[in-house]
Amino acid sequence: MSAHQHGHGQSQGHGEHPVDEASWDERYRSADAIWSGSPNPVLVAEAAALPTGHALDVGAGEGADAIWLATQGWHVDGLDISSVALQRAAAHATAAGDGVAERIAWLHADLTDWTPPHAYDLVSAHYMHLHQPEQDVVHRALAAAVAPGGTLLVVGHAIADLEDPTDAGRRPRMFTAADVAAVLEPGAWDVHVDEHRPRPRTVQPGTTITIHDAVLRARRIG
Ligand SMILES: C[S@@+](CC[C@H](N)C(=O)[O-])C[C@H]1O[C@@H](n2cnc3c(N)ncnc32)[C@H](O)[C@@H]1O
Repeated sequence: MSAHQHGHGQSQGHGEHPVDEASWDERYRSADAIWSGSPNPVLVAEAAALPTGHALDVGAGEGADAIWLATQGWHVDGLDISSVALQRAAAHATAAGDGVAERIAWLHADLTDWTPPHAYDLVSAHYMHLHQPEQDVVHRALAAAVAPGGTLLVVGHAIADLEDPTDAGRRPRMFTAADVAAVLEPGAWDVHVDEHRPRPRTVQPGTTITIHDAVLRARRIG
């Protein structure tokens, strides 16, 4: 799934980012695989040392992050608005063997209209870009779904990478790590990571550029 090899939707150009269930289904149907099938590197870097428990992965896509978490021993709820993506994700989980599929529940839901059934030890969102004001509302809801002592990990495309930061089509869906930190209840969180992190992106064979992720990792004080 990890969008890092395929551009997280940026390759679609301005104004073409899917925004609803039908558009996401259509995008997933347009190819056998949209994402790389590898977990996002920021997830691996930030979650590898966490004690395992019950995780929520929102915008789970084709499932690579949820599957990686399950291979680490996590029980995972992988949520996505696209049933096409989730069918693929479930098939990948089954193919992974080793009890992975049994540790993942795939949830078909619109995050903007979903109430977490319980608190999670890890809530992870990678490249789950929404329009404002939904983005802040969802970040607040994701934070509220973290159990005491649990971790919130939110990763997005850094605004700084936009060629034109005033771009009307994409700017409203992007956020900084500080934007995410700003919705956290003061005094209730230890913010461990709040940064724009560089990563390589191959834009065509032989040409790799450096782009950045907005990364927020915070622990709810237990
Ligand atoms: C850019 S993709 C990222 C997928 C995956 N997290 C990754 O990093 O490769 C965004 C995902 O969020 C899902 N999505 C978009 N809007 C959503 C919503 N309102 N509720 C739940 N999922 C949504 C899409 O179907 C898509 O799978």
